[in-house]
Amino acid sequence: MCGITGYIGSRDAYPIVIKGLQRLEYRGYDSAGIMVYDGEKANVFKTKGKVADLEAIVTEANKKGTISIGHTRWATHGVPNDVNSHPHVSNSGNLTIVHNGIIENYDKIKKELVTRGYIFHSDTDSEVLVNLIEEVQKQEKCKLAKAVQLALNDVVGAYAIAVFDINDPKKIIAAKLGSPLAIGIGENNEEFFIASDASPFIEYTKNAIYLEDEELAVIKIGKEVEVRKVHDDSAVNPEVHALDLDLSQIEKEGFDHFMLKEIYEQPKAIKDTYRGRLLPNEGIIRMAGVEEYIERFKSADRIIIIACGTSWHAGLVAEYLFEDIARIPVEVEYASEFRYRNPIITERDVVIAISQSGETADSLAAIKMAKANGAYVFGVCNVVGSSIARESHSGAYTHAGPEIGVASTKAFTTQITLLTLIALKLGKEKGKISNSDFHAYLQNMELIPSKVEKLLEQDAKIKEIAAGFLETPSCLFLGRGYNFPVALEGALKLKEISYIHAEGYPAAEMKHGPIALIEDGYPVIVIAINKGHYDKVVSNIQEIKSRKGKIIAIVTEGDVIVKEMADHVIEIPEVDEALSPLLTTIPLQLLSYHVAVLRGCNVDQPRNLAKSVTVE
Ligand code: F6R
Repeated sequence: MCGITGYIGSRDAYPIVIKGLQRLEYRGYDSAGIMVYDGEKANVFKTKGKVADLEAIVTEANKKGTISIGHTRWATHGVPNDVNSHPHVSNSGNLTIVHNGIIENYDKIKKELVTRGYIFHSDTDSEVLVNLIEEVQKQEKCKLAKAVQLALNDVVGAYAIAVFDINDPKKIIAAKLGSPLAIGIGENNEEFFIASDASPFIEYTKNAIYLEDEELAVIKIGKEVEVRKVHDDSAVNPEVHALDLDLSQIEKEGFDHFMLKEIYEQPKAIKDTYRGRLLPNEGIIRMAGVEEYIERFKSADRIIIIACGTSWHAGLVAEYLFEDIARIPVEVEYASEFRYRNPIITERDVVIAISQSGETADSLAAIKMAKANGAYVFGVCNVVGSSIARESHSGAYTHAGPEIGVASTKAFTTQITLLTLIALKLGKEKGKISNSDFHAYLQNMELIPSKVEKLLEQDAKIKEIAAGFLETPSCLFLGRGYNFPVALEGALKLKEISYIHAEGYPAAEMKHGPIALIEDGYPVIVIAINKGHYDKVVSNIQEIKSRKGKIIAIVTEGDVIVKEMADHVIEIPEVDEALSPLLTTIPLQLLSYHVAVLRGCNVDQPRNLAKSVTVE
C-alpha cells in the first residue's frame, strides 16, 4: 500500500513526480504529497484526497526544482488527513521522507524522541522514522546515508523510503524492506528516478535496479548507484534490469476505465499466459518451473494453495482442477489464516502461492513459514521480479501485463489459465488423464481466447441488465462445482466496486440459509451452464423463482430450459466444465463494471481499497 516516487537530475522534477504519483495511485489514494527542492528550500505540499487534489494546491512558484519526492497514501497509522499525509519533515526542517510500509515499534521510538525534545505533528510512524534519522545524524555526526542505515537497524517493520537532506542536496537515499522499490537509471547517471514500481519512469529509461530487502541505495547525480546492506553496511553489486514495459500497457488507450480495458485485454492476456507453454501440435505442456521440480510435484502428499482475495478464488478453481485432473489432494487457504493458525506443513507438501502483485504481505509471510517447514513453494505471480516470485523456489509468471484497476480481472483469468496448464501437466505426468482427454484439453484451451472475444460482444446487453441494479441493496451469486468459486468472485467484484452487498454461494447451500433472503424481485445471479450439475442448478433456479426472486442466468448457447425461467440470460459458448470458469467469469466482470459505472462509483479506485496489500 502507498506509492512513493522521486526524481533527481536536471529536468523539472514536479511534472515527473506528479505523473508518477498518478500512475501509482492504484497503490493507495487517501492522500497525496510532494516535496520540491528549489535550490534553497524544500517546499512541501500535501493534502487529503487524490493526486488531482494535490495538484490544485501546489503554487506555480513552488513547482520549480530538479529534485522531488512524492507519495500517495493508503492510511495505516492515523486517519487520512492533511497532517498525516507524506512527505514528513524532521524537526529541524532539514530532512524529508516518503515512506511505504509500517514501522511496528514506532510508539516506543516516538516516546524516546519526545523525551529528547522532539515534537510530532502527525499520528504517523513515518514522521517518527524521519526524526529518528535526524537524531542519529545528530548523535553520530554522520552523513545521511549512515544515519538512515543506523536508524533502520533500530526499526521493526517494513519500509520503502526515499529521504532527502537539504544540507546534502545532490543525493537521495532510498532503502527497502518488505515494500518494493525500483530505481530508474538515466543516461550517464545524469538523472535517477525512484518509484514503488517502474511505471512512473518507463518513458525516461529502460534500465532499473530493484532493491532487495534490507538494501540501501545512495543515489547521487553523476555517480553509479551505490547499494549497501542495511544490517552490516556491506557493499552489494546491484543487477541492472532491462524493462520490457511500454507506455501503452499503463494507459487507458481510449477506454473509460482501466478495469474495462483490462476486461477487454483478456483474450490476449490468456494467450500470453499459455504462449510457449501450451503446445497442442507437439502434444505437450512446457513449464520450466514445474519441470525443474517435477519429482516434488509427483510425490507430493498434497498441494496447499495460499492466496488472498481474487487470487484465493483462483486457488479454489485450482482445487477442482488438481483434484479432478491430476488426482492430487488440495487445500486452499487464506494466507492470513494459514500463517497464524499453526498449520501442519511437511517436506512432502507442495505449496502454490498465487498473487497478482507478488507483494501481498500475508501471502509472503505464509510462504516464508511454509519454506521454513520444508515445503517446496511454487509462485504464480503477475508482477515480474516481485517479492513472492523471488521468495518462491520456482514458479511461473502469468504475463497478464500490468493490472491497474484495483478490481482484479485479467489477473484472475490468467491465474486460472496457468493453474489449468499445471493441473494438465501433472495429470499427464502422473498418468491420471488419458492421452485423448489431454490432447482434447490442449486443443480446447487454444480456443478460449476467441470464445472470450465472442463473449465480450455481449457487453451492451450486459449493460442493459446492469441498469436493473441501480437501487439493489443486496444480491446473491450461485454456482456449483468449478463455478462455485466463480460465484464467489462475481460477488466480490460487485461489492468492491459498486458497494452493493453481494454474497457468493454454492447453489445447493442456498437452502441452508440464504434462501431466506429471497423475496419479490431479489436478484440472484446463477451460473447454469450445461455441464456439471445442470439439472440440480435448474432445481435451485425453480426454488428461487417460486419465491419470486429475479434470475440472471449464465447459460450455454442454445439453452432452452433456463431461458424460460430466467428474467435475463447471458449465453457463453460451449466449453468443457474444467475450462468454463475462464468464460463464466467474463459476464460477471462486465456486470459489476456497468453497475458500478451506472451508480457513479469510482471503478478503478474503489473506496478504502488499494491494489497491492503490503500490510497484514
Ligand atoms: C479483488 C482484488 C483483491 C486481490 C487481493 C490479493 O479484486 O484485487 O482481492 O486479489 O488483494 O492480491 P494479490 O493477488 O496481489 O496477492
